[in-house]
Amino acid sequence: MITLTVINNKGGVGKSFLSTQFAFYCALKRGLRTLFIDLDPQAHSSNCLFDSKLFEPANVSSGLLMQQGGLRTTGAARLLVRADTNLEELERSGEEAHNGFVENLLNSLNEIQDDFDICIIDTNPSYDIRQIAALLAATHYVCPVNLKQEALEGVEMLLGRAQEVSTINEKLQFAGLVLNMVERKPYQIENFKQLWVLAKDLILKQENGLKPAWVLNRNEYAAAQGQHRPVWVSKNSKPGEAWYELRTVFLNLAAALNLPENNPLRVVWNEDGSLAVVNSSREDN
Ligand SMILES: Nc1ncnc2c1ncn2[C@@H]1O[C@H](COP(=O)(O)OP(=O)(O)O)[C@@H](O)[C@H]1O
Ligand SMILES: [Mg+2]
Repeated sequence: MITLTVINNKGGVGKSFLSTQFAFYCALKRGLRTLFIDLDPQAHSSNCLFDSKLFEPANVSSGLLMQQGGLRTTGAARLLVRADTNLEELERSGEEAHNGFVENLLNSLNEIQDDFDICIIDTNPSYDIRQIAALLAATHYVCPVNLKQEALEGVEMLLGRAQEVSTINEKLQFAGLVLNMVERKPYQIENFKQLWVLAKDLILKQENGLKPAWVLNRNEYAAAQGQHRPVWVSKNSKPGEAWYELRTVFLNLAAALNLPENNPLRVVWNEDGSLAVVNSSREDN
């Protein structure tokens, strides 16, 4: 099982957007058995995946999972460990308890690792035991960034800390910085140029390895997220430019993770307006 942790200490950079949409992509477009763990008590990802009805809630929520362990598989190919308010208690519980939280998470993932192809962990925007545990549990991490000055400032420190964790978790690999909410404004172009000079190798790129695989700031993305659906599933329109742009990023992220690929699953609308997966159906990927 590949375990991908999505981190950035800034809020609002697109961690939950990228992690939920990548989970939809992995589960539906690549037909992978996908586990999602939401470690942010704001629960944006939990709400999106749960309300989509495309993921099934697990037997435990994520704060309880860290406090007590005990995640079980249910046979569901798309399983969601939802955030809970217990997550807020974890940091102030002391070092000994912290070790237990990490152990519970790692043990649970170890036990179910043959039941899923990928586990995606969305994190809270602060460097605390939840983020550290998520990095200790991961095989890879990815960092969405915005081209705003204040958003870029924390990235160096964040990557330094992740490097420290990788001295303990030797399998941890960096999948890259994903430029998100990109706008063609002069200050963003200037920030991009600086970032390209300073950290070109760290940026997730397109297949040719020359251009960054970025995600523009688009209404379609916020709308899909707000309506709790994959970007490519829209009632009124076919997948357009927004989806092809995001798909490029996901294809390159999947390549960085060495992700397998199975037959895609088709998503349909029920009469009541909810979504459902149609198995054994082919869809143009
Ligand atoms: N590329 C994008 N274009 C437009 N809106 C976006 C984009 N990425 C994220 N958003 C929206 O911006 C808001 C903040 O994103 P979110 O993923 O919740 O950030 P984080 O999890 O890092 O705090 C959300 O409403 C989300 O839907
Ligand atoms: Mg979030």
